[in-house]
Amino acid sequence: LIASVSLRRVLDSRGNPTVEADVLTESGGFGRAAAPSGASTGEYEAIELPPGEAIAAARQHAVPRLVDSVHAGNQRDVDAALHGADGTDDFSEIGANSAVAVSMAAAKAGADVLGAPLFQHLGGTFRDADRSFPVPLGNVVGGGEHAKEATHIQEFLAAPVGAPSVSEAAFANAAVHEAVGDLLDERGVPAGKGDEGAWAPGIDDAEAFELVEEATDRVADEVGFEVRFGLDVAASELWDADAGVYRYGDRERTPDEQIDYVADLVDEYDLAYVEDPLEEDDFDGFAELTERVGDRTLICGDDLFVTNVERLERGIDVGAGNSILIKPNQIGTLSDAFDAVELAQRNGLDAVVSHRSGETEDTTIAHLAVATDVPFIKTGAVGGERTAKLNELIRIAEEAV
Ligand code: PGA
Ligand code: ZN
Repeated sequence: LIASVSLRRVLDSRGNPTVEADVLTESGGFGRAAAPSGASTGEYEAIELPPGEAIAAARQHAVPRLVDSVHAGNQRDVDAALHGADGTDDFSEIGANSAVAVSMAAAKAGADVLGAPLFQHLGGTFRDADRSFPVPLGNVVGGGEHAKEATHIQEFLAAPVGAPSVSEAAFANAAVHEAVGDLLDERGVPAGKGDEGAWAPGIDDAEAFELVEEATDRVADEVGFEVRFGLDVAASELWDADAGVYRYGDRERTPDEQIDYVADLVDEYDLAYVEDPLEEDDFDGFAELTERVGDRTLICGDDLFVTNVERLERGIDVGAGNSILIKPNQIGTLSDAFDAVELAQRNGLDAVVSHRSGETEDTTIAHLAVATDVPFIKTGAVGGERTAKLNELIRIAEEAV
């Protein structure tokens, strides 16, 4: 049984406060986890409260329901207690940040009690012996809400789809990141980095496509396997609802033009992955684009689905996208995140596990991605809070062969 739950404010990678939870069991099991935080958050995400408020509310409502009454190893019971304590359908009472920190910390305590690695406790025991590992998608150039005065498209993501191991994939992404830096240097373009460690140069999107194509080609030649790339358009951030257009600075595109634009990009650059190509309410637009691009490209819903089974069901009904981004803090518990993964997989959609732009050293998503056997994990290319997950994947791969 859970003996104690403690909550505290810690720093995230942007220097903002976030919620960390410690769960201790009677038998001495221990788990610690911290909530990440988005900047380009979807309108339909579970509610993140100011950490101080979230901690106070969780101490008052959730901790008493967990201590001495729930087994840390029984994730469904832990997460049902969190929902019961909250009483809303969007965690607006205790905060999705408190909820997800406790949910993940309890999972780690449950694994600790069993003496099992987290990925195995979370379902990894049913992995195929010779299964493949999630391919990391590495953010190498971007802007949007993650960096001012940079590209309109939020993320250009290296996708080393031919990598023979997760380690080679992670190093390929780091090499693409470095190659982009070199190319910017050669062109005399100064560039800082955005919130996820991607280069944030003041170039237009067309030039970014050129650079990333050249960098991925260069690295593919070096490593000898296929390295493609993809995008998170984060189109809700470009969408001007009043005017009914997507705004790329001075240039605007109607929804139909946006679909044409993205479909052309998929063709021209053989994109492996396109996340949120349309705004978060345009299920029909997602469906039209998905039909147009064919199955070499994942069309992924992040703000569209927000890891929420009801929104995913709606998407499945109309064929909106062929994949879903999974961010546990968008929905508040690991059980809810698993439900979304399972619903997707049962319906032939790929799930992609993801970090947030505000992160900590927490590595839970690396274990989640392995446990659920997803094809991709989006967790950045460089930077300590990003490499924490990549390095954990490298360790898991050693342990799990
Ligand atoms: P966020 O960005 O964490 O700021 O929401 C990541 C994403 O949009 O995928
Ligand atoms: Zn996104």
